Amino acid sequence: MNKKSIPQHIAIIMDGNGRWAKMRGKERYEGHIAGVESVRAVVRAAVKHGVSWLTLYAFSTENWGRPTEEVEAIMELFCRTVVGEAPELCRQGVRVKIMGEKERFSAKVLEMIGRIEDETASGDRLTLVLAFNYSARREMILAAQQLAREVAEGNITADAIDEAMFSERLMTRSIPDPDFIIRTSGECRLSNFLLWQASYAEFYFPETLWPDFGEEAFADALEVYARRDRRFGLVTE
Ligand code: IPE
Ligand code: IPE
Ligand code: MG
Repeated sequence: MNKKSIPQHIAIIMDGNGRWAKMRGKERYEGHIAGVESVRAVVRAAVKHGVSWLTLYAFSTENWGRPTEEVEAIMELFCRTVVGEAPELCRQGVRVKIMGEKERFSAKVLEMIGRIEDETASGDRLTLVLAFNYSARREMILAAQQLAREVAEGNITADAIDEAMFSERLMTRSIPDPDFIIRTSGECRLSNFLLWQASYAEFYFPETLWPDFGEEAFADALEVYARRDRRFGLVTE
């Protein structure tokens, strides 16, 4: 595969943990625990293949509506994993950024977010963006509110608002748009993920459940991407 056919930014909707657990007669949270191994594998593979940005959808704003025990298990798993993985992520040159609204998190989760971002800040091979309490619609509403405030304060005019100005007020400011969006488990929907940024992304919906998605599945996905013809509304000569 040549360099051009490797996506600069891959975003993954990690889905199917609950079904994976259910198929094995386990509790849903055990599926989430198994999913962490896939996160490790995919991060390794992304570094190996020279991907610069990897965004993983780990928890949507809608996911707060799940049973309390499951939400608590996910928060706990997040804290535990974040602390444990920092040294290995640093070794691989991975910088971690958490993307989502921070308001609803416990003090402990907030502390872990601060720690992992600080400890990995110098990573320069891959930026791993974890979408955690993320909602694309909410993100766009916040950007609209910000622009409205700036107009009211007289700092910008309404007519001056363009795509670049809107993009700069999203949570993904300074992150390139995803080239390739993968959703595991066979579901073919975005579930409120990167709605603005996905405008020209390529999509791939493998049947594989997230805990079964590893380095090989990642390499297969790269092959799929390499065969796509991205036209951006133009014509290929
Ligand atoms: C994805 O797996 C992980 C999160 C949403 C946190 P699910 O928990 O949605 O698994 P399924 O879709 O129920 O199988
Ligand atoms: C989307 O998966 C959110 C994450 C993977 C974190 P869900 O399982 O929550 O989405 P729906 O409910 O199937 O659309
Ligand atoms: Mg799901």
